[in-house]
Amino acid sequence: MVENRVLSGMRPTGHLHLGHYHGVLKNWLSLQNEYNSYFFVADWHAFTTHYSDKIDLESNVIEMIIDWLAVGINPNTSTIFVQSKVPEHAELHLLLSMTTPLSWLERVPSYKDQQKKLKTKDLGTYGFLGYPLLQSADILIYKAGLVPVGEDQVAHVELTREVARRFNYTYGREADFEEKAQIAISKMGKKQSKSYQALRKAYQEKGDIQALVKAQALLKEQNNITLGDRERLLGYIEGVGRIILPEPESLLTTSPKMPGLDGQKMSKSYNNTISLRDSASDIEAKIRRMPTDSARIKLTDAGNPKKCPVWQLHQVYSDTQTCNQVKEGCTKAQIGCIECKRPIIDSIQAELLPIQERIAKYHSDPSHIKQIIYDGSQKARNVAKETMAEVREAMGITY
Ligand code: TRP
Ligand code: SF4
Repeated sequence: MVENRVLSGMRPTGHLHLGHYHGVLKNWLSLQNEYNSYFFVADWHAFTTHYSDKIDLESNVIEMIIDWLAVGINPNTSTIFVQSKVPEHAELHLLLSMTTPLSWLERVPSYKDQQKKLKTKDLGTYGFLGYPLLQSADILIYKAGLVPVGEDQVAHVELTREVARRFNYTYGREADFEEKAQIAISKMGKKQSKSYQALRKAYQEKGDIQALVKAQALLKEQNNITLGDRERLLGYIEGVGRIILPEPESLLTTSPKMPGLDGQKMSKSYNNTISLRDSASDIEAKIRRMPTDSARIKLTDAGNPKKCPVWQLHQVYSDTQTCNQVKEGCTKAQIGCIECKRPIIDSIQAELLPIQERIAKYHSDPSHIKQIIYDGSQKARNVAKETMAEVREAMGITY
């Protein structure tokens, strides 16, 4: 597995809002400095639910990538790409579908949930049932170690692990696996092969997890064995076979839910968002219209911040001092709601101003965006092609 490779994707929803920024993108921003990061637009995924809707997919894809870049996703350090530009995802999806039981897909919670939620659509399609498996292909084709996702996606990463395990079990076992593993060990050099064998024994006989981790690290350092041998020896520690598709782990986003204008989670479907592209006056108008503690009708009525969505935004945007002033001013009826909202309006405007300047700059140079997408997709495709070569080889389709 490529431990330090992070992969995550987003459906092309078009313009992003503050919920995406605080909930997802800020997390990507910190990850991109630490890991080898792959971020992609899951454009095929849009068809799993919107197959008959007229949406301008191209513009949605481009505008979303502009938003990523404007918040600081760096195309020089992160690989930014579009799923449909790497058709190998579809090939892996197809091949994985051969070993994936229907029941695994039917029990993914989002399958029934979304069907209930989107009642007006017929989601009894093959594509919709299979979309978590397409997501598995998205992940496994890059051998990503970590997949940053929200809670609603953890089940999909879990499915991905099962799919990978089954694939490795089915196609990773070669008739002469044991023999090949022994030859690979002998290529490691005397000292190294001795410690590998000792660690393998400790893991197999005593279930020593430390030994497993050490043996994996040892293999990672080996420069004199081939990729195939490394996979064999990784699999041989656990005794199953070659690990062709490593199991990823989900990295749960820890940032709290970004509150929307009505206090519910910010989401397009609740119509309570502030877009990254809202103008200063739109922001002001939206915040001014926000409902407050409904018991506070007159200035002289004391309020309760806990019952007020504006307070939730203070928690995101204001320092302790301002928060204390708000709490005191509200509960003692010393400040008005308009006054209370002012610092939030200022903070959001200040936060979005530089982002919007960068959005405008990217807009003025569309060929630059296209180049970034092209370069990133090429780079991703090279990695995907390597994995597919190994997958085809394991399945015996190299003729
Ligand atoms: N299914 C994800 C969503 O709806 C998007 C996605 C597609 C994804 N493929 C992925 C996320 C791979 C992480 C990794 O948000
Ligand atoms: Fe909400 Fe602030 Fe008004 Fe209190 S003073 S009700 S916290 S907007």
